[in-house]
Amino acid sequence: MAEDVANAIKHQSFDRLFILTDTTTLRLCWPLICALPCFQGAQMITIGDTDDNKTLESLAHVWTALQQGGATRHSLLVNLGGGMVTDLGGFAASTFKRGIAYINIPTTLLSQVDASVGGKTGINFGGLKNEIGVFNCAATVILSSEFLRSLDLRNLLSGYAEMLKHGLISDTESWAELLRFELDNGQGTTDYRQLGALVAKSVAVKERIVEEDPTEKGLRKALNLGHTAGHALESLAMEQGRTVLHGYAVAWGLICELYLSVVKCDFPKDKLRQTVQFIRQNYGDFTFECKEYDRLYEFMTHDKKNEGGIINFTLLGDIGDIRINQQASKDDIFEMLDFLREG
Ligand code: GLY
Repeated sequence: MAEDVANAIKHQSFDRLFILTDTTTLRLCWPLICALPCFQGAQMITIGDTDDNKTLESLAHVWTALQQGGATRHSLLVNLGGGMVTDLGGFAASTFKRGIAYINIPTTLLSQVDASVGGKTGINFGGLKNEIGVFNCAATVILSSEFLRSLDLRNLLSGYAEMLKHGLISDTESWAELLRFELDNGQGTTDYRQLGALVAKSVAVKERIVEEDPTEKGLRKALNLGHTAGHALESLAMEQGRTVLHGYAVAWGLICELYLSVVKCDFPKDKLRQTVQFIRQNYGDFTFECKEYDRLYEFMTHDKKNEGGIINFTLLGDIGDIRINQQASKDDIFEMLDFLREG
């Protein structure tokens, strides 16, 4: 991993180097690479380590540190952290002096397979997630399973849900390989080498899609599979003061949207069954009641992916057979929630 980092930095030409971390990655991840000669003289910028730091204030802190540290158009920002750091750092770099280059070194599984790749950058604003931002890809993204060793199983599972999504929109073999892999082999250990190989495949799926549709006009909507329902579940949980990791909500969202895929697009029932079994076994159940269906529906109607006020789903006709811009009635959606709740 040290070699990959050193090589990536060597291939960039820059006058000053800045490293953005959060308080946790500064403690757990920076020590793994700080001794590299390429980081000699680099200036550190640190922000708080939770998603509520993805704010205008933190962004201003990064801009100020760049300015006071003498950054020019030819400076380089390295974002070392999870999705919050890579999103905010990517946006800070994309806007400072109209844009300086940045490199992402994602340190969580979720950011390795999703946030750090594909050029979506931004901050939360006015109570809305990722409300302000731009599309602008990192010069390089460095993936290393070394960083994943400090993650607990819940955080690994959270990222794994996005990998499952990539498998579903890709091909049956990749999907089956993901269902076979045991993140926790039963003795509390993970095969990080194999996980690293699965991550590389997963990122390649996203890269292929982003290359074809960088600004989400069409095909990139495939990456929203599981997210219309998932975001609603996440919002409900947040409103109720329950902690639900993003990937868990996506996993339960996949159950919902694959069920809808069966109903509306003839997705094969046995593949639904196998996926649901894997998710319920690893992620457990999202507990909620019928009286919360209306609130979930309301969250879905406010999803920023909707067009013309109509709830917009990405569904599948089969694994890899992507159907974007699918609509469902309120009855369909309630039936989908029944399926999630009762199986
Ligand atoms: N997270 C989905 C995307 O990057 O489009």
